[in-house]
Amino acid sequence: MHLAMRAELQAGLLATPAFTSPKYLYDALGSRLFEAISLLPEYYPTRTEAAIFDANLAQIAQAAGIGATLIDLGAGNCAKAARLFPALLPRQYVPIDISADFLAQALGLIRPRFPAIEMTGIGLDFSNSLDLPASVRPEKRLFFYPGSSIGNFTPEQAAAFLARLRAACGADGALLIGVDLVKDKAILDAAYDDALGVTAAFNLNLLRHLNRLLGTDFEVRDWQHRAFYNPQQSRIEMHLEARQPRTVRWPGGQRRFAEGERIHTENSYKYTPQAFAEQLGAAGFGAIQCWTDAHGWFAVMHARAI
Ligand code: AVI
Repeated sequence: MHLAMRAELQAGLLATPAFTSPKYLYDALGSRLFEAISLLPEYYPTRTEAAIFDANLAQIAQAAGIGATLIDLGAGNCAKAARLFPALLPRQYVPIDISADFLAQALGLIRPRFPAIEMTGIGLDFSNSLDLPASVRPEKRLFFYPGSSIGNFTPEQAAAFLARLRAACGADGALLIGVDLVKDKAILDAAYDDALGVTAAFNLNLLRHLNRLLGTDFEVRDWQHRAFYNPQQSRIEMHLEARQPRTVRWPGGQRRFAEGERIHTENSYKYTPQAFAEQLGAAGFGAIQCWTDAHGWFAVMHARAI
């Protein structure tokens, strides 16, 4: 593991309250558990976003135009973008994902289905850097960032990230983004604390990932999943809470946790369409178009670099 990553993890575990970056939720099992979350009846974002795309595909394609350089941020299995190909007819498809191996496998499967589209996969942690290789066409860049992953950044981090995206758009680029919206607390609480306990497993799996990465001696059974909507901050908070007092040790450090003490593992910010449009505007995007579902639970937005 990189020294910087080790230092970042240790600093978070030693902070009060302790925290870890949500990116550590995604080892191989964590990615599978997130796929399972997206199938849960309580977790409305994935299916609601898909329904918005299905219902408005012609209008979205009209806004985005055909022949784009479609840059898919956090592409995973590339399925969300592939559903748009027949309408958007991209000239080049550029899936980017931190997991280069998984991406290479996914590209191997979709390439033969769309032989007319040039495909260039990139293994990159794009939350840190958006330096794209010269093989990515500079014309008509359309950044695709679905799933409301933007909500896992703080609003300040989201502002900085959107500004970097704006810079990477060039003169004629645009952004197509999914954003989860503010709604009733009961719906949000259930979406992040489902009856089957899949989200609990997703959260607790972080401890096994940390044991491998940092050499911590977390016992999964000593911790419990806590997730709730915090309306003051307009965010879901996920935590892991110690069931009893515990000292966690790792090479070069240790931390005593009291009973009930928590590690903050993820935020998932929820926006109003107006608040998110303002974020886009502040980052240098305009001509914003927004599509939502009948309940107003989720939004898909298209915005041009201006
Ligand atoms: C990936 N991200 C948008 C998910 C979310 O809803 O914030 C991650 C997640 N965490 C718990 N459930 C799903």
